[in-house]
Amino acid sequence: MRFLQYVLPLGLVAAPALAQPTSFDSYLALASEWPPGPGSVLVPQEPDAELTAMMAEIDPARIQTIIETLVSFGTRNTMSNQTDPNRGIGAARNWIAEQMQGFAATSGGRMTVEVQTFLQPVVAGEILMPTNISNVIATLKGSVDPNRIYIVSGHYDSRVTNVTNFIDDSPGADDDGSGVAVAMELARVMATHKPAATIMFAAVAGEEQGTLGSTFMANTLADAGANIQGMLNNDIVGSSTADDGTTDPFNIRMFTEGISTSETAADTKRRESIGAENDTPIRQLGRFVVEVGSNAITQMNVQMVYRPDRFLRGGDHQPFIARGYPAVRFTEPHENFAHQHQDVRVDDTGKQFGDLVEFCDFEFNARVARVNGVALWSLAQAPGTPLGLTMDTSVLTNNSTLTWTDDTEAAGYEVVWRASEDPFWTHVIEVGKVTRATILLSKDNAQFGVRAVGANGFKSPAAFPFTE
Ligand SMILES: *[C@@H]1O[C@H](CO)[C@@H](O)[C@H](O)[C@H]1NC(C)=O
Ligand SMILES: *[C@@H]1O[C@H](CO)[C@@H](O)[C@H](O)[C@H]1NC(C)=O
Ligand SMILES: *[C@@H]1O[C@H](CO)[C@@H](O)[C@H](O)[C@H]1NC(C)=O
Ligand SMILES: *[C@@H]1O[C@H](CO)[C@@H](O)[C@H](O)[C@H]1NC(C)=O
Ligand SMILES: *[C@@H]1O[C@H](CO)[C@@H](O)[C@H](O)[C@H]1NC(C)=O
Repeated sequence: MRFLQYVLPLGLVAAPALAQPTSFDSYLALASEWPPGPGSVLVPQEPDAELTAMMAEIDPARIQTIIETLVSFGTRNTMSNQTDPNRGIGAARNWIAEQMQGFAATSGGRMTVEVQTFLQPVVAGEILMPTNISNVIATLKGSVDPNRIYIVSGHYDSRVTNVTNFIDDSPGADDDGSGVAVAMELARVMATHKPAATIMFAAVAGEEQGTLGSTFMANTLADAGANIQGMLNNDIVGSSTADDGTTDPFNIRMFTEGISTSETAADTKRRESIGAENDTPIRQLGRFVVEVGSNAITQMNVQMVYRPDRFLRGGDHQPFIARGYPAVRFTEPHENFAHQHQDVRVDDTGKQFGDLVEFCDFEFNARVARVNGVALWSLAQAPGTPLGLTMDTSVLTNNSTLTWTDDTEAAGYEVVWRASEDPFWTHVIEVGKVTRATILLSKDNAQFGVRAVGANGFKSPAAFPFTE
């Protein structure tokens, strides 16, 4: 792999000046030159006119209003008041549900809104008394393949220093008013459109006490056998400014776990035996989001991090991963730890602590919403990820023979490949509406995948072949 290193004496590595990306020209700069092989250079798929128009409707001013309104409820601690009309998590839940109902009213009946509530028993040190936890979920039903689901979420509960303090003001502007704003603004913009597959826009609660709301949501869906092919968690996506004032407004981190916590030891052993550790469904979802989400429409570069989450941290994508679904987490590039999980206060040096609206950047938050929007819509308009993909290993050959199951929604298929140490798919070979292809490149020397192409031109995430 080719990359630039700025190595100073004493082993110090200087960061290069931050580029302000407006295009995706970094994609192929990382591609290895070996092995040589067939196909053309993979050009990232681009949004169509409908998607481009939708993304232009994402409005930083509306994101600001959502965050300011959420903050106006004083505290949104999971144990705060559920019935007071003005203060506490119940007022926030009702407001989000009303807003989502308003969006659903524009959808011609395609969008429905559910307030999913369960009684959470006491959890030592986290939940002090039995507490109702509610997730607000707007579901935009797919017009072609309604059983295939993609989810975008943020959490509307908030916290201060003490996670069980449900009395004091806990503004939660960035953590995670920003993520709720992404889900709500996308629900508004997409409600009037007809995705082929189903999209769920969720505002969950109980995140701060251990992803309780998202665990209930994931388990409810998994127990019903839901076919969720992608989940995007937005948590702390509202500011690009570090504690020293450095800004990084055109990068968004995407945490992508490698081997899912749902895999058995036998599955993992099989995976390792063919070098597929970096080709899990989570990483394929990540590659897809990088490909479609880093461009002139979003004005963002999606920076994939090979890690479940930040060290010692977790989030609402993890309960979905635990149930076998591919899920990723978006978080701003520089977190300011004085602005999260902190009592609102000014210390003796005059420094302001707390997760206040004044520290938010609504334009940045809107660009993150566009990354999510482009990814969700491209996923929902494409056919699903190909199923039943295998690599033929019955004879020793220099070639690679792939077989898969036909999907009636696919107009055709593409084989994609990359050098095994490259991060992203670099080459593509159109193979047509077939279920078997032989590529004149050894499976020992490259990573292969197959993706489905719809009649509308949208392409699915790639599947990775296992042996029979
Ligand atoms: C919640 O607020 C309502 C209205 O202000 C009040 O009547 C009720 O006692 C509060 N509930 C709790 C548990 O504090
Ligand atoms: C939970 O919500 C239900 C339905 O609103 C209500 O009857 C019940 O009292 C609530 N329980 C708690 C512990 O707040
Ligand atoms: C946290 O708040 C709870 C009440 O909300 C209180 O019982 C507990 O003592 C507090 N913990 C600390 C460390 O202050
Ligand atoms: C495999 O490829 C190598 C290198 O191109 C070539 O020398 C060899 O003859 C090939 N073997 C077969 C069985 O085609
Ligand atoms: C496999 O590759 C060799 C060249 O290495 C080629 O001659 C042969 O026809 C290929 N076999 C198939 C089944 O495509």
